[in-house]
Amino acid sequence: MGPGGEIVPRLVRRSRSPRGKLMDLASTTLLFLLSGSLGVFGLFRLLQRMRGKAYLKDAVVVITGATSGLGKECAKAFHAAGSKLVLCGRNGERLQDLLRELSAAAGHPKNPHKHHTVIFDLSDIKAVVNAAGEILKCVDHVDILINNAGISYRGTILDTVVEVDRKVMETNYFGPIALTKAILPSMIKRRQGHIVAISSVQGKIGIPFRSALMDKTTREGAAAAEVAQAVLHAVGEKKKEVLIAGFLPALAVYLRTLCPRLFFTAMAARARKEKKAKDS
Ligand SMILES: NC(=O)c1ccc[n+]([C@@H]2O[C@H](COP(=O)([O-])OP(=O)(O)OC[C@H]3O[C@@H](n4cnc5c(N)ncnc54)[C@H](OP(=O)(O)O)[C@@H]3O)[C@@H](O)[C@H]2O)c1
Repeated sequence: MGPGGEIVPRLVRRSRSPRGKLMDLASTTLLFLLSGSLGVFGLFRLLQRMRGKAYLKDAVVVITGATSGLGKECAKAFHAAGSKLVLCGRNGERLQDLLRELSAAAGHPKNPHKHHTVIFDLSDIKAVVNAAGEILKCVDHVDILINNAGISYRGTILDTVVEVDRKVMETNYFGPIALTKAILPSMIKRRQGHIVAISSVQGKIGIPFRSALMDKTTREGAAAAEVAQAVLHAVGEKKKEVLIAGFLPALAVYLRTLCPRLFFTAMAARARKEKKAKDS
């Protein structure tokens, strides 16, 4: 009651029940643990990125198929990361254009290295072995070999002659194998080296009407520059395997392992749908 007889609200401090106190303590602890782990995770990621950057800076990187698509974007990404590059392809003019593009590119700090180009056809094993010699002659050693070059093909099993399968295997499999084998001894000697194999989702799963390999056009897939950034980070962080794919292709890859029956049912349905579209 106030001096004038009015009612004055009183602050009543009710003591918390033991259960309430326990709840308060639990939520504070949880919050503390959560923010602590987020902080530790953030710091860990930061350190990982910094280590990745240091790993890529001044590294000697060989990129096959650098004249277009993903190889060209990888060249730009690794150039920006400060690596010394050996750019490979069959088209010398396009490699020279890329060199000019890289030297004109702004960078902070600017990449100080003189990059090299080596021209060879991956489907010619003798040329591949000679090219490996040329690469080692101009850069002395290779830190990172990115086997990116490849050809794609679309066709049914019945429509595809064996020569096509052979050509795809020569370029996409035996060529990179020969190049890797030719460079590997120098890596083993230095007890250091990193080999990257770029493939397709269809290197992991078979999809109807793509008998020899893949034909996902770049229009349908992720942008080459985006994939190149993912490759750069995966190499920097020394990841063993990275799957860069949209939701459905990624789901298909996991289904193939975890639930093959469902995967094959879905692929059969897709094959029937594609055949219907093809016939109409
Ligand atoms: N594009 C996609 O959607 C996609 C999806 C999944 C995986 N991938 C993979 O990513 C890699 C690059 O694909 P991309 O789309 O960037 O291809 P791309 O634009 O067609 O470029 C292919 C590169 O490979 C080189 N190449 C082809 N045949 C060669 C040969 N016999 N000898 C030496 N070099 C040869 C070409 O160089 P020259 O022209 O100078 O010969 C070119 O630089 C491939 O391994 C592919 O399987 C691509």
